Amino acid sequence: MASFFITTAIDYVNGMPHLGHAYEKVLADAIARWRRSRGDDVFFLTGVDEHGQKVQQSAQKQGVEPQAFCDEMSAHFRRLCERLGTSHDRFARTTEDSHKRVVAQFLQQLHDAGDIYFEEHEGFYSVRQEQFVTEKDMVDGRWPEIFGDVVKTKEPNYFFRMSKYQDWLRTYAEEHPHWIFPSFRRNEILGALEKPLGDLCISRPKSRLSWGIPLPFDPEYVTYVWFDALVNYVSFSKWGQRDCRWPADVHTIGKDILVPAHGIYWTIMLKALGIEQPRRFLVHGWWHLRGEKMSKTTGNVVDPLELIDRFGADAFRYYVLREMAVGQDADFSPENFAQRYRSDLGNDFGNLVNRAISMIRRYRGGNIPSAPIDPDIAAAIHETRDGVAAAMDDFETHRALERIARLTQRANQYVDERAPWRLAKDPALAADLDAVLATLADTVRVLGILAEPFIPHTAARIQQQLGMDKPDFRFAASVPDGRLAGQTVGEPQPLFPRIESPEDRRAP
Ligand code: ME8
Ligand code: MG
Repeated sequence: MASFFITTAIDYVNGMPHLGHAYEKVLADAIARWRRSRGDDVFFLTGVDEHGQKVQQSAQKQGVEPQAFCDEMSAHFRRLCERLGTSHDRFARTTEDSHKRVVAQFLQQLHDAGDIYFEEHEGFYSVRQEQFVTEKDMVDGRWPEIFGDVVKTKEPNYFFRMSKYQDWLRTYAEEHPHWIFPSFRRNEILGALEKPLGDLCISRPKSRLSWGIPLPFDPEYVTYVWFDALVNYVSFSKWGQRDCRWPADVHTIGKDILVPAHGIYWTIMLKALGIEQPRRFLVHGWWHLRGEKMSKTTGNVVDPLELIDRFGADAFRYYVLREMAVGQDADFSPENFAQRYRSDLGNDFGNLVNRAISMIRRYRGGNIPSAPIDPDIAAAIHETRDGVAAAMDDFETHRALERIARLTQRANQYVDERAPWRLAKDPALAADLDAVLATLADTVRVLGILAEPFIPHTAARIQQQLGMDKPDFRFAASVPDGRLAGQTVGEPQPLFPRIESPEDRRAP
């Protein structure tokens, strides 16, 4: 069994999760589920980033202790995962002792090796991005919006000797064309390496920021965000245990934290520590709302829980995975969401399942007939499987879902063409009707398997409605072989019922 380890970024708990955070988790979850369906031994890690200035400030504003604030906020992120139905194996919190120990151990190792030094430094710091910026980052003499408040700081701090590894990193980036997905983003790293790399400030004096992990070699200092947060991928991988899962196969992150955080800091940290590199970065784009990036800090957000409450988790998952071409930006629109729900999920997918189950009950008393599968539909199923597999191996959920939608439409068209209600009127055509019903049962079963990584709750309901007593989402089982013949289907229940709009509800 192949091992597969996938992560998401860990979210700052300074505000409530929004649709962008939900998307990243769903994207990683779809890939994790896909790999499980292929038979891989999957380890899926997600979690929260609880230290740092942003969190300390947010706690202060509410007049509560940072730990109490983190406990409350982290629960919201965990709850989001539950509502989305993510299949993570571990939910990381950076305030856990086991994590803090690994961070301290790594700091000590780098300090002992001479890769961490102490120095006075004057510079500009972006609290929002938790990183130092330089005048070169200014646009037209102003700090771009993405940096939020930029403050001038001057204080002695500990620095990680990143510059020493610049040449190594350039060669590494050049020699690993598949390191970053989509591949064009590797150029951002190579571009950043054209200028000399500064060293990375990794500390804050406790007097100014107490909410961090103390440096093992200087208790007056704590380590600041990135050196703490990035280590989560290793510290929560069962590090030091026999069944340790490191290295990660895929780090799922947003495009704002590839350069410099992951592509430069993390890669060099691992190199300096002598730890194996993750195999790939999957870098997704941003969800926009009204033309601007959705962001906790600016409050320009869509609450995923509201959509889940109204339409269900699978409708949400389907929408984000279908609408966003992985790696590019996408715009959220409520009209578009409602439209996809009504049309793709309700009229096409849900309707096909409902028709199939209802007709098997109406014409065959609920027993799935034993009959040959229509060869055209069987061919379409094989084509779809190949297409879904190719798309998912490239992380392209939208293309995989396009394939599934195409098979769904083809099957609905098959029902219309064969018109089972007409075949049912003529006893001489019983064998034809059997073949149509057997074909539909198998198509619906296969669609349930192929759609499971994206809409797992619905996939489980399909198998229940088909009367399968043991769920089976193995990709290997998604072949049209009539294996349900002789089984009895259950109650047909609408998977994506019509939902009245708030306007309808207000009407008398
Ligand atoms: O950066 N669309 O946390 P974070 C899509 N704690 N993705 C978005 C998004 C949007 N509008 N807004 C944010 C951090 N994200 C650090 C990470 S990892 C060791 C530490 C994504 O809460 C963002 O790109 O600001 C990132 O991948 C994740 O949400 C967490 O962002
Ligand atoms: Mg952010």
